[in-house]
Amino acid sequence: MTIASKSLTRRRTFVTALSTLPWLSSAVAQGMMPGMKGMGDVMSGMPGMEAMQGAATALAPVTAIAAGAPLAALHKLVNTSNKTGVFRATLRAAPVSVAVLQNGTPTEFWAYNDQLPGPLIEVVEGDTVEIEFINNLPQPSTIHWHGLPVPAEQDGNPHDAVPADGRRLYRFKLPLDSAGTYWFHPHPHELTAEQVYRGLAGLFIVRAKNDPLQGIPERHLVCSDLKLAADGRIAPNDMNDEMNGREGQFALVNAQRQPVLTFDAGGRERWRIWNANSARYLRLTLPGARFTLVGTDGGLLTKPVTGLTELLMVAAERIEVIVEAPVGGGMVGLVTAPVERGKMGMVPPEFPITLLQVDFSAVKPDRMASLPKLPPSLRRIQRLGPAVAKKRVVFSEEMSMAGGAHSMKFLLNGKSFDMKRIDFTSKINEVELWEIANESDMDHPFHIHGIQFQVLEHELDGKVTPEALLAWRDMVNTKAGETVRIKLVQRHKGLRMFHCHILEHEDAGMMGQVQVV
Ligand code: C2O
Ligand code: CU
Ligand code: CU
Repeated sequence: MTIASKSLTRRRTFVTALSTLPWLSSAVAQGMMPGMKGMGDVMSGMPGMEAMQGAATALAPVTAIAAGAPLAALHKLVNTSNKTGVFRATLRAAPVSVAVLQNGTPTEFWAYNDQLPGPLIEVVEGDTVEIEFINNLPQPSTIHWHGLPVPAEQDGNPHDAVPADGRRLYRFKLPLDSAGTYWFHPHPHELTAEQVYRGLAGLFIVRAKNDPLQGIPERHLVCSDLKLAADGRIAPNDMNDEMNGREGQFALVNAQRQPVLTFDAGGRERWRIWNANSARYLRLTLPGARFTLVGTDGGLLTKPVTGLTELLMVAAERIEVIVEAPVGGGMVGLVTAPVERGKMGMVPPEFPITLLQVDFSAVKPDRMASLPKLPPSLRRIQRLGPAVAKKRVVFSEEMSMAGGAHSMKFLLNGKSFDMKRIDFTSKINEVELWEIANESDMDHPFHIHGIQFQVLEHELDGKVTPEALLAWRDMVNTKAGETVRIKLVQRHKGLRMFHCHILEHEDAGMMGQVQVV
């Protein structure tokens, strides 16, 4: 028996033992009900839980952070430029102490401009952006503009790290048709996961000059998680985090636990949702409400996709949805259900978590009846033409016994990331077909820097499913055993990374680089 299958057996035994506990089924049901605490609360309150998880650090119970405050708006980064079309500001990464626990114990985070979540940069397509980055962290850092079409030397590559107490200017001009929902985060060599889980991540919206959805009240929901030790410190990664990607006991929205969103009286809102988690996938439901998907990572779709009841988001993905109030209003929980992504080892049991309470009570039923129709077409997206080059990326895992302790190696094309190795060469402005084959037992969300791609098809067990949506994305899930085909075009010369966006896997080496010439 291999180590992996042995620990899988242990996991099954563990889950079975728990499910025989009489309070479990009713607690699960309560976790699903609006107005009640998520199941996670019950679990972390359980004595001996940490010991059973095999974690070295005792964790704070989920109730240690207060729930129920009004949802906070994001902190907008103020533009200090007085030139039209230029956005100029400073981002300073530094330790900051914040008392997030109800008992007043402070936690030392690392944050941009002392803000959690990090600030929101809002610009219009065509704008020039100048960000002075000051690194007051005790280690090197960079700012990577996730998903944005910025030149490679401005994209915060690990090769361009800003040393502790150093600074640099990032400068780029955003092309037309780049409107979308992006974010930024550090990308230093092997330190990305830690810097992000300590709090470093900010939001970026590029607005269209003409937005077909203008006038619909807009809401920003940043989903991130937080793992705190009982003493209030940010818990280090344990073996499970390194293997499956870190998932904290706190699943936060705009850095708050279960805040309350008071829904617009008009009955309809446009939500931009960021999955800013290190690893956690989201499967979102909002019982009774209607979701219409209107945008992906790289902006609006060609037309709205109506009638959705569930939204699946891999780590690092963003979407835009139109939310319409349920009949009858009231308080409804936005719940994320566990996503089966092939976690390995002794994984603690997972339960639905209520991320947010949505208060629909101000919505007037007659307003719902008279909602104007959404525009039938949102944007033109040119389907990328025939590919003239092809690349194949293979994700795989390997058990290693280095140093006596067993650990997992996460590989890309059989290798660990090497800053000095160029894995691929691409030609600027050429359409390429990329085939991403997941030959591991776990899902890995694929990401490539500097561009948005179009997903063509998914192949699993010999069955090819064409992608239904014509959309711009920079994130796509690859399920265990699946092959995903995408098309892309590089628009800048230079060095680009591509990797699994489970940040622990990325830091562990599941990353490659392409030189665009
Ligand atoms: Cu969010 Cu290398 O990326
Ligand atoms: Cu990126
Ligand atoms: Cu991965």
